[in-house]
Amino acid sequence: MTRIRKAVLPVAGLGTRNLPAAKTTPKNLLNVFDRPMLAHVVAEGRAAGIEHFVIVLGRGQGAIEDYFDRSVELETALAEKGRTAMLETLRAEVARPGEMSFVRQMAPLGLGHAVWCARDIIGDEPFAVMLPDMLMDATPGALSQAMAAHDAVGGNIVVVEPAPDGETHKYGIVALGETAPGFHGRLRRMTGMVEKPPLGTEPSNLFISGRYILSPTVFEALAAHSRGAGGEIQLTDAMRARLDHEPFHALAYEGVTYDCGDPLGLLRANAAFALRDPDQGAAARAVLSELLNASLGA
Ligand code: UTP
Repeated sequence: MTRIRKAVLPVAGLGTRNLPAAKTTPKNLLNVFDRPMLAHVVAEGRAAGIEHFVIVLGRGQGAIEDYFDRSVELETALAEKGRTAMLETLRAEVARPGEMSFVRQMAPLGLGHAVWCARDIIGDEPFAVMLPDMLMDATPGALSQAMAAHDAVGGNIVVVEPAPDGETHKYGIVALGETAPGFHGRLRRMTGMVEKPPLGTEPSNLFISGRYILSPTVFEALAAHSRGAGGEIQLTDAMRARLDHEPFHALAYEGVTYDCGDPLGLLRANAAFALRDPDQGAAARAVLSELLNASLGA
């Protein structure tokens, strides 16, 4: 089985639901407890064995390149003050030489178009796509689980999870066929995908949630630049175009997803990541309890 070495992280969207915060700070650099949401997703990719990240940037997002670069000034200041733990934390975030490429999506024409912008760097090998505004808290990580599924059945893997009750019409929903052996029924052949099906017509309650392993043939479908839902070039449409030609499996991963694409989702992720922090979780619990009790008038 071909090893998955590269991942595309598209961050060039406008982040309109996170305005005004996302006006000058790229949405993916907004904080989730102790670091930007993008850094959490890069850590998940590194843990899954990704060797090269292709980050698709939009205009005004140069701070993302700086985040993964060294800051000699900060490192010198921390070293002089003897703050070695923070110095090590800072250095661990920096990209290893050649580990990251940055490509520019000149206009936010859609997720599919953003992925297509990475085609030359990906070349002719299967690759991962990670949506950095979806934080997936899982052990092993969501992409590692997708890799295990890929090792078992090959082809394309789409990570899915149950939509909240009555909300299937807000998501890309998958139609499912036969179950693959192993994986406790969580890995099934995909027979279709529907973007935002009217309630009552959904083929399942599972939505496409932000991690994919794709064959490079998807670039052929994306090259057509067909506009789909919302007038955007959609990744889902390109995958649907490939569905009759190659296998796709949906993996219902084991873990919890935090959609950071709006302020309340970001708040939820912040609280959850603070609570699970080994050093500061107890203190975070005290802070949150105090705030809740005060707000409830206790
Ligand atoms: P979203 O639709 O969730 O993000 O796209 P958005 O467009 O930034 O946010 P809203 O809807 O305006 O609030 C999912 C991912 O795809 C990227 C986004 O940056 C996000 O990480 N994306 C989307 C692109 O890179 N380019 C695009 O043209 C569209």
